[in-house]
Amino acid sequence: MISVTSSALPELACEAGRAHWEQAVREALIDAFVSTMYGPAPHATEVACRLTERREWAGLRGAQRLGLEVRIAIQKYSFPVSVALYLPPVARVLPPLVLGPNFAGNASVDPDPAIPLDTGWMRDEPAWGMAGNRATPATRGIHQGRWPLADILKRGYAAAVWYDGDICPDDPAICRPVLEAGFGGAIAAWAWGFSRVLDAVIPLGMVDSRRIAAVGHSRHGKAALWAAANDRRLGLAVSNNSGAGGARLWRDAGGETIADLFDRFPHWFASPLKSFAGRENALPFDQHQLLALAAPRAVLVASADDDAWAGPADERRAVEAARPAFALYGRAEALSWQHRPGGHGIGPADWARFLDFADRVFAAN
Ligand code: GCU
Repeated sequence: MISVTSSALPELACEAGRAHWEQAVREALIDAFVSTMYGPAPHATEVACRLTERREWAGLRGAQRLGLEVRIAIQKYSFPVSVALYLPPVARVLPPLVLGPNFAGNASVDPDPAIPLDTGWMRDEPAWGMAGNRATPATRGIHQGRWPLADILKRGYAAAVWYDGDICPDDPAICRPVLEAGFGGAIAAWAWGFSRVLDAVIPLGMVDSRRIAAVGHSRHGKAALWAAANDRRLGLAVSNNSGAGGARLWRDAGGETIADLFDRFPHWFASPLKSFAGRENALPFDQHQLLALAAPRAVLVASADDDAWAGPADERRAVEAARPAFALYGRAEALSWQHRPGGHGIGPADWARFLDFADRVFAAN
């Protein structure tokens, strides 16, 4: 059952038709999300990509791993991002691509000892093998289940992964120089990271640029949705347990509040959002409008039944309320809410469902 709410959601304003939605509503909504919630992202003055290695990948016969050093410049500020690109065993056509950041470095999703550990700052999560704000060898393979690369490649998809901290370290103090380069917050920076990785990967000509899916878990799910709103090269965004500031409505929602977010993660969102703490119902928009910004491209919102902090029922409400934007294009099937038993997390069974959905929406393209 969809819960009955006490305050009406902002109108999607797509009844006036596709032209009105595209020419008047969409841009205004993007502006509203930029000015109040995610903040701006700067123009990259350069994205250079150097192939550092190309080899057979030990995880799957016939698959390859490419190491890419992507150097991104924002005027004088320039920084490297290590991208691992995995190609499935050779096929007749270019493979579709799934891409997304990870929490603990590329070696955390692929235990191959040949992958260098990320040398940048890392949030100290002793359970994940970080120590002294650095990756240690104990991070190797710790998040294999979050990016089940062999399964993904067996399904015929290519995959590109990078460490989120290569784009923006997840700490209010350490991320300062990045935000000062022109980002409203870390979520905006991570979202922009999806686009910059595409700038580097698409020209290599190794993946099908018409079948690209952004995948993000939790904070990265928030970023994946904002990336899809802004970048039409993303044919699908998969938000897994993204919750507040992602797929979950703000109005009349349970779980994490704006105050909670700013208490623990003051660097994630642009500061105007903070003034809506305790009065979420007064926001000029709500997150169904974020989902609608991806239309007619596809969105999968994946929730976990026991993940009350992220608010599965209120993620579902957002999906239902976003439907008219997809219906405008006759693409109702391109928006989906899926849920599973259990708590916050992502694993191979989730990925199997994501790729089933991706197979369907990409086949329909
Ligand atoms: C915290 C945070 C959430 C976020 C999650 C995650 O729980 O409160 O907003 O989605 O971390 O990224 O794992």
